[in-house]
Amino acid sequence: MAGRVEGKVAFITGAARGQGRSHALRLAQEGADIIAIDLLEDIPGAPYSGATRADLDETVRQVEALDRRIVATKADVRDLGSLQQAVDAGVAELGRLDIVSANAGISTQMVPTDQLDEDIWQNMLDTNLTGVWHTAKVAIPHLKAGGRGGSIILTSSEAGIRGYANIAHYVSAKHGVVGLMRTLALELAPHSIRVNSIHPTQVYTDMIQNSATYDLFTGKTGSTKEEFAAASQAVIALPIPWVESIDISNALLFLASDEGRYITGVPLPVDGGNFLL
Ligand SMILES: NC(=O)c1ccc[n+]([C@@H]2O[C@H](COP(=O)([O-])OP(=O)(O)OC[C@H]3O[C@@H](n4cnc5c(N)ncnc54)[C@H](O)[C@@H]3O)[C@@H](O)[C@H]2O)c1
Repeated sequence: MAGRVEGKVAFITGAARGQGRSHALRLAQEGADIIAIDLLEDIPGAPYSGATRADLDETVRQVEALDRRIVATKADVRDLGSLQQAVDAGVAELGRLDIVSANAGISTQMVPTDQLDEDIWQNMLDTNLTGVWHTAKVAIPHLKAGGRGGSIILTSSEAGIRGYANIAHYVSAKHGVVGLMRTLALELAPHSIRVNSIHPTQVYTDMIQNSATYDLFTGKTGSTKEEFAAASQAVIALPIPWVESIDISNALLFLASDEGRYITGVPLPVDGGNFLL
């Protein structure tokens, strides 16, 4: 039986680990080949380690184990040139582009807004907002050239729907992604290119498996994983403390596939009802 994205090619940023790797594998399971990029460096001000070459190699290994092709490159979404090179080389090798997942993102300093460092603020906007625009900018000409339409999925966050104290830079960037999504959806509709954003609640990846994030949710220092789980669950309507990367990947697959063929311009929460509370 043909997969749900059989024969298509997907460009995924931040694909070395976490949600990005999960998206690559889910799309590959359904028949897509993958163009993957990742920074593979530590992030200044992040309370967790950056992805590594070994992480990206593991994504490659797992996609190839599914008998799909993958072109994986170290590239930085803040750097338009490196991103352009990576997507151009990927399309040259794999022959087309249909799906774009602008997933790369960072979480850094967690302090009241007036105490945020200027370089931390700027790097957040450069990565989580400008990086998403860069991703769309380098991909759109390939999607248009294919003449087969396409699907662009921008990863925002629950923090793109509501405010959170002490992460103004993250909340601002993730809200900005929604404006970009709505604008692109209008511009690209005549080309049958759909653009939507996904808004995960807490996803249990490296980004949040650290004491700084635990403390952000509990409002105290030295929180345990159990205390974080209770605080996280308190803001989610369903009785769960967080979701897993595969839950985001399944929503992304739906939007990427023909099942979502008339869905565009939609901010889709995958959040267990977080937005209701
Ligand atoms: N984990 C959560 O709770 C959560 C919730 C909502 C939204 N998100 C968003 O989901 C996306 C994926 O995050 P994740 O949870 O998988 O975390 P993660 O840290 O495991 O993965 C993020 C990936 O992006 C890469 N990256 C960071 N900066 C980059 C850059 N400049 N260029 C290229 N790659 C870069 C990292 O190296 C890493 O591999 C992010 O946009 C994040 O903001 C995460």
